[in-house]
Amino acid sequence: MELTGQVIRCKAAVAWESGKPLSIEEVEVDPPKTHEVRIKVCAAGVCHTDREYLYETGKQMRFSPFPLVLGHEAAGIVESVGPEVTNFSPGDKVIPLFLPYCGECERCQSPKTNLCRRNWTNSQMGVLADGTSRISCKGQQIHQFLGVGSFSQYTVVSDTSLAKIRPDAPLDKVCLLGCGVATGYGAAVKTGKVEKDSSCAVFGLGAVGLAAIMGCKVAMAKKIIAVDINPDKFEKAKLFGATECVNPSDYDKPIQDVLVEMTNGGVDYALECVGNPAIMSVALESTTEGWGTCVISGWTETDTMTVKVEKILMGRILKGTYFGGWKSALEVPQLVDDYMNKKLKLDEFITHNCQLDQINDAFDLLKRGTSICAVVKPEEAAL
Ligand SMILES: NC(=O)c1ccc[n+]([C@@H]2O[C@H](COP(=O)([O-])OP(=O)(O)OC[C@H]3O[C@@H](n4cnc5c(N)ncnc54)[C@H](O)[C@@H]3O)[C@@H](O)[C@H]2O)c1
Ligand SMILES: [Zn+2]
Ligand SMILES: [Zn+2]
Repeated sequence: MELTGQVIRCKAAVAWESGKPLSIEEVEVDPPKTHEVRIKVCAAGVCHTDREYLYETGKQMRFSPFPLVLGHEAAGIVESVGPEVTNFSPGDKVIPLFLPYCGECERCQSPKTNLCRRNWTNSQMGVLADGTSRISCKGQQIHQFLGVGSFSQYTVVSDTSLAKIRPDAPLDKVCLLGCGVATGYGAAVKTGKVEKDSSCAVFGLGAVGLAAIMGCKVAMAKKIIAVDINPDKFEKAKLFGATECVNPSDYDKPIQDVLVEMTNGGVDYALECVGNPAIMSVALESTTEGWGTCVISGWTETDTMTVKVEKILMGRILKGTYFGGWKSALEVPQLVDDYMNKKLKLDEFITHNCQLDQINDAFDLLKRGTSICAVVKPEEAAL
């Protein structure tokens, strides 16, 4: 059936309000407007941030208001393009992006940052460039989380928030490069710039932390210490390259002291992948004086981190990373190539595959720490 220019009726998981499970609804997805692309979502990863927003931080409504279609880590196929779209055609395989890359602004032109601010405020508020979303349900506008909204069979995104990827890429795997895995991997190799033969500590062994371990290994770090309070995560950590695993609950002294002892003065790189401000301070204090670098990936909206001034005076470096420092549309296709060339692992992150109507179970698995990455396939037939 020819859908171009038509409203598409399809299924989506709608978050009607904060703190309540998602509800599968029939929604209407409008055709793309100028500089927009409508995509069929073939695979959507369930990120910690989606769950966190629904059940915790979303109450403050700093971002996309409810009702809302969550999901910001996905891969799909272009269904149709709006006026003035030049880089995409129907049938292209794509990864939607919660961080844009316009290629033109001062930030995009600078090698120092990936933080393109094109449509920033709108996408943070869950709408596209004209201030509205393309998804509606029962006559009501449904916001698109971070300008994406991928827990839907179809969605519409800005053409600066979309990466075209190679046609042979398996969408149910490369969807993970839309957020968590790209973030952790980039925290190590791009933002942290982990060096050969260095020592590293990675705090938190979810998708982000395991990807950070993978980055440390690709960078040929000599010592990679994985830290988590859930020892069930250690087996996977070793698979991704951890040389040692440490559970803070096994010690009666602060874990930073344990790590400093293990490395004769502190690690060269500490990567915080939990999202807890206390652990961010611990990570910084685990690094060596002189040059120790702490990179924060964990996301918290309103919390404050405490930094002992003396730690910074003694030459330590504190950095944060958003989407692993990658210039999104420009560099995500290269990450897909790295996966296809077996430089990056992706399959090993996937612990669960499920249908759209099992999405609340996928959130529960993440909360219980029993899943690393769950991949939802809104449109099974498309794969
Ligand atoms: N910066 C970005 O662009 C970006 C992108 C994606 C995710 N994030 C954030 O990164 C963080 C990690 O995401 P994830 O999907 O890997 O989460 P996750 O929930 O799957 O993993 C977090 C891990 O931290 C562990 N943990 C909890 N408390 C701990 C403690 N006190 N010490 C050590 N380990 C502890 C948990 O057991 C779990 O294994 C989240 O805050 C998420 O919102 C940031
Ligand atoms: Zn830009
Ligand atoms: Zn995410």
